[in-house]
Amino acid sequence: MQPLILFPRDIMSKVTVSIIKADVGGFPGHSTVHPELMKVAEDNLKGKDILTDYHVTHCGDDLELIMTHEEGEDSEEVHALAWDTFKEATDKAEKLGLYGAGQDLLSDAFSGNVRGMGPGIAEMEFTPRKAEPFVAFLMDKTEPGAFNLPIFKIFADPFNTAGLVIDPSIHQGFRFEIWDIKESKRIFMDSPEEMYDILALIGAKSRFVIKRVYPKEGKLPGDEPVAAVSTEKLYQIAGEYVGKDDPVAIVRSQSGLPALGEVLEPFAHPFLVSGWMRGSHNGPMMPVSIKNSVCTRFDGPPRVNALGFQLKNGSLGDAADLFDDPAFDPVREESAKIADYMRRHGPFEPHRLPMEDMEYTTLPGVMKEFEDRFESLK
Ligand code: F6R
Ligand code: MG
Ligand code: MG
Repeated sequence: MQPLILFPRDIMSKVTVSIIKADVGGFPGHSTVHPELMKVAEDNLKGKDILTDYHVTHCGDDLELIMTHEEGEDSEEVHALAWDTFKEATDKAEKLGLYGAGQDLLSDAFSGNVRGMGPGIAEMEFTPRKAEPFVAFLMDKTEPGAFNLPIFKIFADPFNTAGLVIDPSIHQGFRFEIWDIKESKRIFMDSPEEMYDILALIGAKSRFVIKRVYPKEGKLPGDEPVAAVSTEKLYQIAGEYVGKDDPVAIVRSQSGLPALGEVLEPFAHPFLVSGWMRGSHNGPMMPVSIKNSVCTRFDGPPRVNALGFQLKNGSLGDAADLFDDPAFDPVREESAKIADYMRRHGPFEPHRLPMEDMEYTTLPGVMKEFEDRFESLK
């Protein structure tokens, strides 16, 4: 007689989703990724025992590795595989004469973890439900704080997420883990109880960023994240301007979590983010399909891609290109109009970032040339 397996391994074992990304060479300029680099990445991840599954794609000029495995977060082997893949892709970029080959690889030698070495990472380990839908969000020409507004809306705004009001399984709200990326500290805050305090922090998106979201009580384990965002800041690692820190995020969805349509809804508004040309301008976020993930106009405008997956036994299955939908045409048009409006300000704020944020761009290099010519007015 067959033994009775009450909890088959595929339901019980935890899975880790890791998105690791880097700009290792643009084609042309900083606009997109050459197909040959994606091929190198595919070949490098194919047949690797450490991974359960993977999907290679790009967002603008960033090469994106979406991987599943059972090694947990910060796995040395998974990070080493990603690092080697970026190295191989860099070699290819050099051979093809692509722009800025190896741009985001800020160190020569791998030392156990890609954190702090240039690539961006969003990772989360969790116990998959029977059916586990999640979205991989990929952004280019912006910074980690660009996720604050949409992640807040998904998990805390009743005008965005109807379920917060009408579904008992999410009515209690969610817990936010917020990082102060300047002071390197974090705080946990609950929504809706502390909603105004959460907003007091995350409205300052260049400093306070949502790192993870957790369920409170209910169907899902409270210690397993339901959303995770990359928070790496390149200038903090390199000590100088090396481009913006184009972020990625993972958001789980449905039954006890916001529905897929609630997860995508914040992107129906082309909210302003910082980044765009030379990482120095405010501009509208434009949701696009992967084929339109090419940053052209003024090196932008900032883009976001959304790939949907249904996890099955740790495998990703097919990727659904969720913004490849005419329902998002109006926001793309609005975003293009806002881009026009912002561009007409030329070098003036608030199109150009405030001085505090320009500190981490190439502007100080220009100002240094004439700083001794200032005369005191006192
Ligand atoms: C922004 C970005 C681009 C470059 C710009 C200048 O994140 O990558 O807008 O900053 O194209 O690039 P360089 O300095 O490489 O000529
Ligand atoms: Mg680039
Ligand atoms: Mg980029």
